[in-house]
Amino acid sequence: MVAHVAKLSHGFAMTIDWEALRTAAVVVAGRAYAPYSRLRVGAAGLTADGRVVTGCNVENASFGLTLCAECGLVSALHASERAAAQGTPAPGTPAPGASAPVLVAVAVVAGDGNPLVPCGRCRQLLLEAGGASLLIDTAGGPVPLSDLLPAAFGAPDLSARREPA
Ligand code: THU
Repeated sequence: MVAHVAKLSHGFAMTIDWEALRTAAVVVAGRAYAPYSRLRVGAAGLTADGRVVTGCNVENASFGLTLCAECGLVSALHASERAAAQGTPAPGTPAPGASAPVLVAVAVVAGDGNPLVPCGRCRQLLLEAGGASLLIDTAGGPVPLSDLLPAAFGAPDLSARREPA
């Protein structure tokens, strides 16, 4: 499996080069700081406007402070410059994800170069960065995040259930 066409909102489609995404994840896994677990992790995500953002895990002597690779990726996503309009919308059509950066595909690998499925906390983090249809690389091929995080809690639950101010 090399490429995969992902359907985006507003009828857009884009090709995902999974080999390139996995390679980017392997490269950044090499920059991980994981002296305590000795498990290097790299994550690479493709944005709706065609950029690749990456992150690696960073550990700390105070073990609970560990940052997963996906945390770094999501931070890089928000910190990075993005195209004025994501995708190439038809004239008069709003760009998908114009108000926030959006991930469409993510590959996470361990130092051995093979896919590593995101931990529970990172699945929740990725949900807000790519939505339920975000494609996640696994040893068996890409799966939508909704398969890994069914019945997820999300921002709509907050607005629906919180008490009035
Ligand atoms: N780790 C990640 O970076 N992402 C995950 O989804 C699972 C775990 C890291 C955290 C820690 O540095 C090491 O792997 C061992 O748990």
